[in-house]
Amino acid sequence: MLTSFWHWYVIIITVATILACFWLLRWTKGVSNRDEEGGGTGTTGHVWDEDLVELNNPLPRWWLQLFYITIAFAFIYLALFGGLGNIGGVLGWTQEGQYETEMKTASEAQEAIFARYRQMDNESLITDADANATGQRLFANSCAMCHGSDARGARSFPNLTDSDWLYGDGFDTVMQTISNGRAGVMPVMVAGLDDSAIAELVVYVQSLSGSQINADMAAKGKKNFDILCVACHGADGSGNQALGAPRLNDDIWLYGGEPETITKTITEGRNGNMPAHKDLLSEDRRRLIAAYVLSLSK
Ligand code: HEC
Ligand code: HEC
Repeated sequence: MLTSFWHWYVIIITVATILACFWLLRWTKGVSNRDEEGGGTGTTGHVWDEDLVELNNPLPRWWLQLFYITIAFAFIYLALFGGLGNIGGVLGWTQEGQYETEMKTASEAQEAIFARYRQMDNESLITDADANATGQRLFANSCAMCHGSDARGARSFPNLTDSDWLYGDGFDTVMQTISNGRAGVMPVMVAGLDDSAIAELVVYVQSLSGSQINADMAAKGKKNFDILCVACHGADGSGNQALGAPRLNDDIWLYGGEPETITKTITEGRNGNMPAHKDLLSEDRRRLIAAYVLSLSK
């Protein structure tokens, strides 16, 4: 509904435009230099090159009538469909009404599809080709901008196709991740350490994934790791899915395994944020996406 200002604004402009067209037609029809008996010059009065004159004849009648028909059409259209501010047309058509009818038809069609999936258990959903095709389309719309269209992720966005999970690959866990989001918190634990102690820690983290860089440094780094890091990442670096603390001993990296990146992670902390989708996607849709995501790694 328009406010009364816009209501009148639309009415006045619409009616005034139509009336102006009407007036323009009447006016141009009358403009001619011919006199009543058809005498006179019949020109606009403009003369070029001494004797070149422009005739000024009225529009042909059939042409003029076409214009009158368009004006009549405008009034009939406005009467049937509305268009004058808040005044509705006699057919009762509205944009909102049309939108709602179309949405209703679409959601009824979808309801039929979802009803089938609702009856399937999680395991069958993961292996159902049609369900995965739908899940893939939903993923492309809602998740691909962060996790990539192939779900392989990117730096700081986890790869969802491998077997390395921050939070776990249980169906309910993935549903939880999608519905409520996740906030990974890697705190800065090394405020009290000097640069060389940090460098040793970094070497130790690298050594967990098999890099044989400097056994001596790694051994020193291990001491601080055992004090500062095991609570979340585990004594052997195998991580903790309850906290979303990544496994550090598999050479699969969320942020990167180069010494500079590990140093940055440790000295500045990390806060990976996966947004909650429960208000954005219906439960049926979240379930299809979860099944699709799990189909990629299974
Ligand atoms: C704005 C970017 C963004 C969007 C959109 C997004 N994610 Fe995420 N997602 C992330 C980040 C970042 C993480 C890692 C969170 C962390 O570091 O703890 C994550 C984590 C995850 C995880 C946990 C992975 C693991 O190893 O346990 C899953 C599963 C996941 N996302 C699925 C999805 C799905 C499905 C969608 C679409 C509905 C989606 N994400 C949309 C950024 C996003
Ligand atoms: C309170 C729990 C906690 C503690 C303590 C902690 N971390 Fe983390 N760490 C995390 C979490 C959670 C993440 C993932 C952050 C994210 O999702 O953005 C992480 C991420 C990392 C990463 C990034 C891994 C990758 O794949 O890129 C490294 C490296 C790391 N931690 C090393 C350490 C080291 C070394 C220490 C000890 C100095 C430590 N962390 C202490 C929870 C912790």
